[in-house]
Amino acid sequence: MLQLPKVIGHRGAAAYAPENTLASFREARRRGATWVEIDVKLTADAVPIVMHDPSLKRTMAIDRLVAETLRADLPKDVPSFEDAIACFAELGLGCNVEIKPCEGREVETARVTVETLRRCWPASLPQPLLSSFKPASLAAARAVAPEFARAILLGEIAEDWRSRTEEVGAVGVNTNGAKLTAPRAVEIRKAGYALSVYTINDGDVARALIGMGVDCIITDAPDVILAAIN
Ligand code: G3P
Ligand code: MG
Repeated sequence: MLQLPKVIGHRGAAAYAPENTLASFREARRRGATWVEIDVKLTADAVPIVMHDPSLKRTMAIDRLVAETLRADLPKDVPSFEDAIACFAELGLGCNVEIKPCEGREVETARVTVETLRRCWPASLPQPLLSSFKPASLAAARAVAPEFARAILLGEIAEDWRSRTEEVGAVGVNTNGAKLTAPRAVEIRKAGYALSVYTINDGDVARALIGMGVDCIITDAPDVILAAIN
């Protein structure tokens, strides 16, 4: 069974620092997180970078698509995936790497992500957990680098959760904590999958989810959740 920490910092510590930046990873570590979650996608020249949205508008105030922007033309605050990994090595942080492809780049993004992990992930850190909402990305990751554990991201747990999880050979289910019911949580844990929930920033809610059998809380505020559940 996949071993995860009880708390993972979402996009670093997104409640306290600009999401998916090196500053956010440092802040997550400072606030007690031992792992962070990041979103990886490709630039126009296929460089893997850490960014959630397909566009630079919300986080960088630039009205342009990531998929149409060269790495060299991105603001310096946007870390490459390699920059992020070097930062994790320095801080001793584990990582849930969410493969977040721009439309149509599901397979390519997964391949580049796992190739980068193979080349750069330090042996001193726990093995990363890959996750994605895109079955094609998880399947491609499995085909190229089956050694990296995978979790399927499900916005909600529908009847077919198990077949969807088995189809991509995932060992974990990462889901929206606000929509998770206790019977579903029990079902997933009984079936032997690691269960993680996003994005939980309230201590009472986190405690209730842990009480339902959830293994890991993905949160913008790791210090708040660590204080609530320990
Ligand atoms: O991986 C958990 C969570 O990050 C999934 O949703 O949209 O915040 O990437 P999103
Ligand atoms: Mg994410």
